[in-house]
Amino acid sequence: MQADSQVRHLLGINSLTDGDVRLLLDRAQALASGAQPTLLDRTTANLFFEPSTRTRVSFELAASRLGMTVINIELNQSSSSKGESLEDTLATLTSMGVECLVLRHPETNRCERLVPGLIGNVSLLNGGDGSGEHPSQALLDAATLEITGLNWPQATIAIVGDIRHSRVARSGIKLFRRLGLGRLRIAGPGQLMPEGETDGVEVCNSLEEAVRDADAVMMLRVQRERMDAAGWPDQDLYHQDWGLREDHLRLARPGCRVMHPGPINRGMEIDSVVADGPQSLILHQVRMGVFTRMAIFEWLFDGIKN
Ligand code: CP
Repeated sequence: MQADSQVRHLLGINSLTDGDVRLLLDRAQALASGAQPTLLDRTTANLFFEPSTRTRVSFELAASRLGMTVINIELNQSSSSKGESLEDTLATLTSMGVECLVLRHPETNRCERLVPGLIGNVSLLNGGDGSGEHPSQALLDAATLEITGLNWPQATIAIVGDIRHSRVARSGIKLFRRLGLGRLRIAGPGQLMPEGETDGVEVCNSLEEAVRDADAVMMLRVQRERMDAAGWPDQDLYHQDWGLREDHLRLARPGCRVMHPGPINRGMEIDSVVADGPQSLILHQVRMGVFTRMAIFEWLFDGIKN
């Protein structure tokens, strides 16, 4: 079975056209506002080689709400634990009629590398690959910002924390710039800032500088699992310099949105009083994740010409 070039995949933000982005964001917001979902007689499988709560469950819920059949592969009980290659696992699932594979994997660019070897009419959705991309998270973040009234050209967004290892930041920066964001700032400890140039992004030296007059501040978790430095950074020291507190919000625009993709480390990158406060969109992001992933499935299968 040869791969079908008509099949859509969601590998990263650059795999979407501007038209795709607009369609997905509008559809996610329409679904969140009560639009009728399109029922899809399709089968999807979740393969998560890294832990996940939000992404895995919301892809599962999204598929269920569209009437799809959902299979969760338990990796420790699947043949990958006997040494089967990922390519062989995917070919096996596709041969059984799985039409969509949602993959989370610790290796950066793993999804992109798998595409040439896919067989048949199977779509691949990147559920987060190493320090690469997390496109569905960026889309749900953008949908959350739009549904709360953000005006992209006039807005300032600060992304703060472990930018270097963050696939959320990498996809978010690409998407927010595509959407015409006025000012995009990044900030974090030097060791956690990206290597090389970051076009179109302002690099700030402190959390205070990053949040000043911001319309949204997105805090990121320190990804210890992608670092060699055991025990670094110290939680209290990190919190002193880079933990978002209530007093920081007073520097931002009134009503500045507080975001975090989760999972959050309370008392490290964010205080509980802020994470649970009136400006926090953290659970709105989670809710919008289900609608965004419903929109992604609808887009994916509408693109297949039967
Ligand atoms: N935001 C996010 O990817 O969360 P999970 O790791 O819980 O899926």
